[in-house]
Amino acid sequence: MQQPVRIAPSILSADFARLGEEVRAISAAGADYVHVDVMDGHFVPNLTIGPMVVKALRPHTSLVMDVHLMISPADPYLDAFAEAGADILTVHPEAGPHIHRTVQRIKALGKKAGVSLNPGTPAKMLDYLIDDVDLVLVMSVNPGFGGQSFITGQLKKIEAIRKMIDKTGRAIDLEVDGGIDLITAPQAIAAGADVLVAGTASFRGGPDHYAANIAGLRG
Ligand code: DX5
Ligand code: ZN
Repeated sequence: MQQPVRIAPSILSADFARLGEEVRAISAAGADYVHVDVMDGHFVPNLTIGPMVVKALRPHTSLVMDVHLMISPADPYLDAFAEAGADILTVHPEAGPHIHRTVQRIKALGKKAGVSLNPGTPAKMLDYLIDDVDLVLVMSVNPGFGGQSFITGQLKKIEAIRKMIDKTGRAIDLEVDGGIDLITAPQAIAAGADVLVAGTASFRGGPDHYAANIAGLRG
């Protein structure tokens, strides 16, 4: 069942020189999750942050820390991110080598497990994982950078995954990431998404605008 829409601002678009403050501001502005994009310059062509930054940010918010691991391999870092205070750990199947084992490990650490599908990765990839995951993340851009345009073809995949999730009868989050704005947010929700990651659209205009930005995306 589609759950109420939650907004997950990606701190990739925050002011990195003032990250703690930014996390406090976006939390006070009505965000539901704080989305943390972890990139390794290898699985994706960009480098961002690691567990130390998650740990440093943890005291600045009581919201769910939604950590999106775009790193390969992810397994050696799961414990560190769990200890740093992540609530959800989301991994890409292509980061290898054993996605099911990775999901098992995340759950054994007491965290929620997410699986993320790149634009070229079929929904079918979830067939034997769906019963074990807490979140499915559909990438609506190729991962690596904020500020890209939403790939409309991914709406079909969101619809297909909504059906898969509903069949399980479990409350699995269906999250969409990339190019979410006032036009694409309603499209993603109509297709069945219930968590919207938004970097550019959340942080646009600075702290005075965060509450209105988030309210607008929620629709
Ligand atoms: C892309 C990241 C996204 C990105 C979204 O690899 O996973 O979370 O920051 O940024 P916007 O909302 O600007 O497309
Ligand atoms: Zn992300």
